[in-house]
Amino acid sequence: MTNTVKFNENYPIIEESNTLYQRATGLIPAYTQTLAKGPAQYINGVAPKYLKKGKGSHVWDVDGNEYIDYQMGIGPISLGYAYQTVDDAIREQLNDGITFSQMHPLEVEVAELIREVVPNAEMVRYSKTGCDVTTAAVRLARAATGKNKVLCCGYHGWHDWYISVTDRDNGIPKSVSELTFTFSYNDIASVENSLDDDIACIILEPTVFEVPKDGFLQSLRELCTKKGIVLIFDEMWTGFRLAVGGAQQFFGVDADLICFSKAIANGMPISVLCGKRDIMQLCDKDIFFFTTFGGEALSLAATKATINELRSLNVPEHLAKQGKKLKDGYNGIAQELGITYTACNGMDARTIITFNHPTENALLIKSLVQQEMIKRGILWGGFHNMCFSHTDSDIDYTLLAYQEVLNILKNSVDENKVETSLRGIPVEPVFRKVSNFNTKPKL
Ligand SMILES: Cc1ncc(COP(=O)(O)O)c(C=O)c1O
Repeated sequence: MTNTVKFNENYPIIEESNTLYQRATGLIPAYTQTLAKGPAQYINGVAPKYLKKGKGSHVWDVDGNEYIDYQMGIGPISLGYAYQTVDDAIREQLNDGITFSQMHPLEVEVAELIREVVPNAEMVRYSKTGCDVTTAAVRLARAATGKNKVLCCGYHGWHDWYISVTDRDNGIPKSVSELTFTFSYNDIASVENSLDDDIACIILEPTVFEVPKDGFLQSLRELCTKKGIVLIFDEMWTGFRLAVGGAQQFFGVDADLICFSKAIANGMPISVLCGKRDIMQLCDKDIFFFTTFGGEALSLAATKATINELRSLNVPEHLAKQGKKLKDGYNGIAQELGITYTACNGMDARTIITFNHPTENALLIKSLVQQEMIKRGILWGGFHNMCFSHTDSDIDYTLLAYQEVLNILKNSVDENKVETSLRGIPVEPVFRKVSNFNTKPKL
């Protein structure tokens, strides 16, 4: 598909977005159900707030403006919006029903498929959200080891055991927060310093934007085996993107339990917990992990179609190829312009753009770049979350836009007018601390 977004003459008209926002004011606390989609992540007054349609890699806001999307529903859209093969599978299942009074055959079929493609997926369960399965994994680890504490690294969802380590911990009993601690990525000493004989599990995103160094994942594996700790990979982002078999396959490291959601069903709500039989089988009679919509058939039909498509078209390779063009292209433009305070980093399939200027506020810079990218028809949040529908022409166009926008950025920084160039309220920080907070004191 050829990219149809054109360099816009002006900033988009966002009247409908603003009307909906007004209607939600005082009615929907925080406005959004997903923080990363919320108004605080977009420059208020310039960016659209509500989207209503998508096709391939493009989306349309409620005012009818078209954008190339690099957020991809915050992860789930791995193939593309309104992707025919998956939507046909959903429609076909819809003709027969959504949720049933007994188990559905797709529960078995999809579990067999996951066992085939994911290393160590000896047993498989489903749920609806990422935090359902990370929480179930933690409970399983506690049941399997008879120990209580959790060491984590990354974001793992809204449930008490994880959010207790953050500064949004209101409403969580102290007795819960005393059981979870964080460690720093690529810092095996930060893990070793936190060990005591009550650690049930180590749970981490195998990579976020930093690449594992010095055999970090292997060292974690060895440490967990030696100390009788359950190693849990939270593969919400790495799963089905780095490789069809996820980070275990990509990095060649075995986890005990593995959690998936997002990319596995191209937008349908489903999550997967899988792993070694000796632990997973505790779901049978020991721990309680059951939920009404766990076997909902539309999402399972979408999962089956998505995995088949990811596998037969080798989608992870495409994501990495297109992502690398953007990453290298961005860094090349920044280098040519001589601006050293911005870079694009991460695994090719999912990269982040950072701003690190000695005096200018990074959030103001990000807001300016977003404002100008949106003017040029790109729904930009500082990430390149790649999907199979991102075409060469999307990438070429995006790099042309970066060329213009980084020029604007350079001039604004040089002339000290970043803040005065903003036409709306700047973006707020993303809620995502990964390193150096709430670490466990060394014994
Ligand atoms: C790595 C990771 N783990 C867990 C979650 C929680 O998933 P959910 O929001 O579906 O509960 C997220 C959500 O963004 C995530 O990125």
